[in-house]
Amino acid sequence: MDLSVKVGNTLLKNPLVLGSASYTQTAKGLETYIKKGFGAVVTKTVTIKPLEGSPNPRAFWYDPEEKTMLSGAEALRNPGMESVAKAVAAVKKIAEEEKCLVVGSVAGNTVEEMSTVAKALVEAGADIIEINMVCPATGPHLGPDYACLGKYWSAKPERAVEAISGIRSTVRVPIWAKCVLGNLTSQDFLNKVDKEARPDAYAYVGGRLPCLVIDVETGKPKFPGNVLLQIEKKIPISPSVTGPVKASTMLHTAYLARLTETPLIPSGGLRKGDDIIEALMVGASAAQISQAVYRDRDVSLTMVRKMEAFMERRGIASLQEIFGISLQYIPAPPLLRVPIITY
Ligand SMILES: Cc1cc2nc3c(=O)[nH]c(=O)nc-3n(C[C@H](O)[C@H](O)[C@H](O)COP(=O)(O)O)c2cc1C
Repeated sequence: MDLSVKVGNTLLKNPLVLGSASYTQTAKGLETYIKKGFGAVVTKTVTIKPLEGSPNPRAFWYDPEEKTMLSGAEALRNPGMESVAKAVAAVKKIAEEEKCLVVGSVAGNTVEEMSTVAKALVEAGADIIEINMVCPATGPHLGPDYACLGKYWSAKPERAVEAISGIRSTVRVPIWAKCVLGNLTSQDFLNKVDKEARPDAYAYVGGRLPCLVIDVETGKPKFPGNVLLQIEKKIPISPSVTGPVKASTMLHTAYLARLTETPLIPSGGLRKGDDIIEALMVGASAAQISQAVYRDRDVSLTMVRKMEAFMERRGIASLQEIFGISLQYIPAPPLLRVPIITY
């Protein structure tokens, strides 16, 4: 059974990527998850100097019993470039043995700063660089060290182009751009960044609404009645639900798959093997998980087993066969905009 997927020209042994968070800032943390079956692990986002970030509790369950809503309020707390580069170098051999790629996540207030961090991580052994252009918890209010980190770099397409092109001229590895979803879903943003910077993939975190669910047995979408009314009778009805972020991650992935040729690596509420299958069906090349790991440190092993069971059940030899198969059933453009109803 072949679980491997391609993200552009990069082959991953499976589509499961451990998203960036504090569990991957030390050699011990990286080694733990490299050995748990991931196709790739992303380091904690790294800056040149250590950053104190926010006080504890940094990983915070709003619902500690149910564990569905995790706040990752770390404000880019990290031990700095030297420390994480040492950790990457320490696990390089194990990662090679496990065929797990190491992705170095970088942040900086200037392109030079980000390039310096990227160079240190690649020299230490990182196979891919992910640029953190997404962190919402940064900005000048936290002081000069935080002024232009994270979300600043995807707020305007020209900044994203500057960051991706600048880092690409420093390191010769694939570059994943982790962007704010609201910016990515703009065709103007994609037109410019795709054409002028050509990232090897976009990573992003799904929103809350609107949503999409795929039946993985058939590859077909399951639409609620209000959405069917929109499709069949062209009557817009506001989807007045709140719910898990996963279904929104699916819809945004289906939407982006129509707007860009650049490979997509979503995250947001994915916690089961079927969630990864669903993401591939709506056009993701791979998928990241984070909160599922806080819930269960062995979740990746279960997810890989579930993906294998799915393939066996459906007689699928290679996971690449299901890439984007649900898009044919989803109206174009997918139902991304929440309609405004006037009575
Ligand atoms: C405690 C915590 C810390 C995080 N730190 C980072 C980070 O440093 N860099 C980054 O790009 N994403 C960071 N994330 C975001 C995750 O990588 C992931 O994109 C997001 O949590 C959505 O996936 P999930 O629903 O599976 O958690 C963090 C998330 C959590 C929960």
